[in-house]
Amino acid sequence: MNDDLVIDPWGSSQSTDYSKIIEKFGLSSTGDMNIPNPSKLHRRGIVFAHRDLDSVFHANNNGNPFGVLTGLMPSGRMHLGHSMVIEQVEWFQKLGGDVTIAVADLESTATRGISLEQGRKIATEEYVANYAALGLDPNKTNVYFQSQRSIVQRLGFQLGKRTNLSEFEAIYGFDGSTNLAHVQAPLVQAGDILHPQLDEYGGLRPIVVPVGVDQDPHLRLTRGLASKTNWFNVSDAKMGLQIGVSIQEDNRAIMGVDQNGKVNKEVQNQIFGKIVDSMASLGYSDINSNPKHGTVNLPAAAGKDKHSIRMSLLRLERELGGMGLLSPSSTYHRFAVGMTGDKMSSSKPKTTLFLSDDVDTATKKIKKSFSGGQSTVEEHRRLGGDPDKDVAYQYMMYFFEDDDNYLSEINRDYRSGKILAGEMKQLCIDRATHWLSELSEKRDETAHVVKDFFVD
Ligand code: TRP
Repeated sequence: MNDDLVIDPWGSSQSTDYSKIIEKFGLSSTGDMNIPNPSKLHRRGIVFAHRDLDSVFHANNNGNPFGVLTGLMPSGRMHLGHSMVIEQVEWFQKLGGDVTIAVADLESTATRGISLEQGRKIATEEYVANYAALGLDPNKTNVYFQSQRSIVQRLGFQLGKRTNLSEFEAIYGFDGSTNLAHVQAPLVQAGDILHPQLDEYGGLRPIVVPVGVDQDPHLRLTRGLASKTNWFNVSDAKMGLQIGVSIQEDNRAIMGVDQNGKVNKEVQNQIFGKIVDSMASLGYSDINSNPKHGTVNLPAAAGKDKHSIRMSLLRLERELGGMGLLSPSSTYHRFAVGMTGDKMSSSKPKTTLFLSDDVDTATKKIKKSFSGGQSTVEEHRRLGGDPDKDVAYQYMMYFFEDDDNYLSEINRDYRSGKILAGEMKQLCIDRATHWLSELSEKRDETAHVVKDFFVD
């Protein structure tokens, strides 16, 4: 089933069957979620799926910190598609998250042939300058380069031992001819995603990664790697929840298991005692510890308690000397169509608007953009246009128009044939002109704070 559906982070085509993607890759839909102060991307279903986003809200609602991490590939000019992630980052920042942004200069040097120096320049002038203009707070956002943060490389290396080529084959469709840069890049990206929760970078807290759905393979990999390092895991039991202890190469001695598998009961009891204590401090009194089976049961615990139980166990793991890594949360946005009807791409300027496009260029591109209108005015009046295919309408929905009521009005009028294709384009040109001019002014105003994004 769905075997033809692959997500390839480096590919040039992109599957847009979003419900199939949700089903096949086990994402959760954001549709039934109660999102506080939803942004236009949430309200319009453009952010359509997530993994474990509830842990972020859970932390936030309880006054606990959470972080946001995302990354950029410094390989071309920043276009509208890239701005969707930043809009989400900003939304999470306003909600109270601290923000870290990885410049994937190692990835772009290895997979796109961009020198580290060029990558640095592109990231600063093209991307971060626009982040500032789009409203990210330089004092609450830290941008770093993969090549300069050795911890992400080290983590990538360490986590590499928890996976193998077969898994890469399964996740990314690699084969014998795959360039090893494509093996290294996801490991470094796992390092990017996990490092903010290390003590030196803010400590244990949920980290949410807003990305386009093409990046989900990296999240699947990273979540798998993190959970494989976990010393304790929580699962549903017949009654309540069960904590299982995972004995691994690097915790055997601490868990009281010697080379030959012989168990030191005293050490084992101490460990289980610590698990029981940490559960007791969460308020549980009914705690069934079974060191022999390697389990602790909490018959009265429910699914919603998993967040706090997991956090306590990760804290305990860290106290005992483990990494205590929480699997990252993530959100996924849909892709806006390219202006020509193809995929949006930096290397094909006609497919998108760049954030630094001037009004003339933007106007030309919108005039030429793929239309959902009929071929003659007469037909259009009679049959109506298709806003789902019309680039001008789509770009207002994705990027330029905040007002939901106005949007549904023009949607209706386009469908009924009242608004003509040329008129829809003009509406989009007006909005785009306003949006791009304002952004360009903001870029000038915020140019002096760009450097502050790089201070950690
Ligand atoms: N691979 C991402 C891209 O192609 C860039 C990236 C690097 C990234 N590290 C990340 C994205 C961490 C999200 C999280 O755009």
